[in-house]
Amino acid sequence: GRPGVGRAHGKAILLGEHAVVYGAPALVMPMPQLTVTVHATRFACPGDGADKISFAIAGQHPAPVTPLVTDGLRYLVEKFRERAAVAGRMCADVLIDSGIPQGRGLGSSAACARAAVLALADAFGRPLDAAAVYDLVQASETVAHGRASGIDALATGATAPLLFRGGSARELPITMSGGPSRFDGVFIVADSGAGGSTKEAVELLRDRFEQDEKIKEAFVRRVSELTTAALRDLDDGRLTGFGARLTENHRLLRDLGISTEPIDAMVEAALAAGGLGAKITGGGLGGCMIALAGDPGQAEAVAHGIEAAGAVRTWVVPVGRFASHD
Ligand code: MEV
Repeated sequence: GRPGVGRAHGKAILLGEHAVVYGAPALVMPMPQLTVTVHATRFACPGDGADKISFAIAGQHPAPVTPLVTDGLRYLVEKFRERAAVAGRMCADVLIDSGIPQGRGLGSSAACARAAVLALADAFGRPLDAAAVYDLVQASETVAHGRASGIDALATGATAPLLFRGGSARELPITMSGGPSRFDGVFIVADSGAGGSTKEAVELLRDRFEQDEKIKEAFVRRVSELTTAALRDLDDGRLTGFGARLTENHRLLRDLGISTEPIDAMVEAALAAGGLGAKITGGGLGGCMIALAGDPGQAEAVAHGIEAAGAVRTWVVPVGRFASHD
């Protein structure tokens, strides 16, 4: 029959990654240009009595499904059966078509899990509400990342930037599809080309914080202050203030060993090219950085600067009045 379909998208954390794992608020932006589509095609189960779900990768950016991601997806299938109360056996070919680079802090594991849950729900005729989808994605993320705050599980299905705190979220006053806005700017997300493991980064900080509780407290307190200040900047449309928070957040993460030399170089290049702020984004130990520019012209200069410093790919995300109106 008709395959079940599920879709989700990538995300970029604006402020608060890692600190969010310990309860600090964080700001996150969906990246609608980075999409994943999953098709789940059921077939008649063979006679041996077992479920059969096979995962395969398709699309323009073929990349092997990492064992970690696959573990997360297998766990997700078990949880899906329970939550969706699927009575019979489950046999399906699951085809993941992802344009989100893996291991770059852009939410590819959560987006794949979200799209897979939605595709399975569709294929097996068991629609799930938003809370159930979140729980399942979050369960799979916990397997893939160890400790996961839930920010990726939410952001990969969000249509607007979010303030995330303690497992729930509210929308930020940043428009991404035109309409009135007090915050008009352009974000630039850039890939260093090096993979970074969020799981390893989360473990690195956990060990560090276990050795010295004070470092954790200072980090979480300062990031919470930055996020709170950034929310005021947003409400008042103060781009330069918001940018300065990004850069300070970068320094905090760098001092904890979450950044890399190539990412530091890209951050400095973004600032030298006129960027209002720049930082690593996501799990770190490689992956991506994000910068803020005041208008599209400045964004172009910043993107060129970052590319000259070694970025393999950049994405431009205009917000407020610079966003497209479709
Ligand atoms: C990953 O996008 C963000 C981290 O804070 C991990 C998490 O919150 O689950 C590094």
